[in-house]
Amino acid sequence: MKIVESTENDVKLMQSLEEDYVKYSGMRYGESLFLTSLVRLYKPQKVLEIGVGAGSSSVVLLNATKDFGGEVFAIDFAKKWYRNPQGEESEPTGFVLEKYPNLKRRWHPYLGHLSYEVMPQIGKEIDFCLIDTVHIMPGEILDYLMVLPHLKDDCVVVLHDVSLPTAKSRENNFTTTLLISAIRGEKLLMSKKNYEIIDRLDDNAIVAHSATCLPNIAAVVLNKETKKRVWEIFNLLTIKWEYFLEKKVVEELADYFRKNYNKGLSQLFIDIVDFQVAGTEEEERKSLEEVLENKRIAQSKCSSTGIVA
Ligand SMILES: C[S@@+](CC[C@H](N)C(=O)[O-])C[C@H]1O[C@@H](n2cnc3c(N)ncnc32)[C@H](O)[C@@H]1O
Repeated sequence: MKIVESTENDVKLMQSLEEDYVKYSGMRYGESLFLTSLVRLYKPQKVLEIGVGAGSSSVVLLNATKDFGGEVFAIDFAKKWYRNPQGEESEPTGFVLEKYPNLKRRWHPYLGHLSYEVMPQIGKEIDFCLIDTVHIMPGEILDYLMVLPHLKDDCVVVLHDVSLPTAKSRENNFTTTLLISAIRGEKLLMSKKNYEIIDRLDDNAIVAHSATCLPNIAAVVLNKETKKRVWEIFNLLTIKWEYFLEKKVVEELADYFRKNYNKGLSQLFIDIVDFQVAGTEEEERKSLEEVLENKRIAQSKCSSTGIVA
């Protein structure tokens, strides 16, 4: 493992962004700075982001790649922003990009989809990937499996909310905690010093942040072994699911896994889904839409000292 220290130039680059992205960010300022530092260290040409929200992390990725022109491909399951703080009609997902027309030219959104549906269009050779979606099972574990075949062997995978279970009432938000431990490769960690840079959230900020006792973002640099150790990730899917996929999605995904991994892992996925379904009463089987809708309603009731992520 390696701690990645941010440089003064990284801080300056972050400061060159106006405040708009900060207001709606799902990340603390120090975490966005870590993301900026990683991008500047690895200089990726093809960046994939899963979990766009308002679009603040897309803005950070586009800003950090601007010197070398990296393209950012951004996937989000929701077409509308998953928050609605004023109880009004939600903005579209990624609306913050409208404030940054120069950066937006290198942004390629795929909204209203799960990753497996659009990866054939986005293609391979991805050298940097940020995953920040729902944090409950199967969540990012399944998202990672959907994109792994399209990542370069030495891709840098960044996961947000890796220590969310250490925040109050977020004990079940552990998918990225598991994933960062399970993915084979060198781990890149954020220095706690990043949090000493005061979060640039003013009193009117819609989004406030839950405190975790450890840095809440981390990365892993994949290597030639990573894709061989994929059973280890499929096996995590045996942990109890909190949302379920439609039958059609399960069938399509099983087919996708058969093509991109092998028949054995595809069958393992089907067996795990059967096990999860059998272990949960029908009326308790929430869909991802319902989970996100509940989140949106809960957060519309939050004050500015509410919870993010
Ligand atoms: C925490 S927000 C992303 C915040 C953003 N990365 C930032 O830092 O500002 C999570 C987003 O992931 C989306 N999402 C949840 N599950 C998803 C999935 N399986 N695939 C794609 N998007 C998903 C939600 O609609 C939501 O917009």
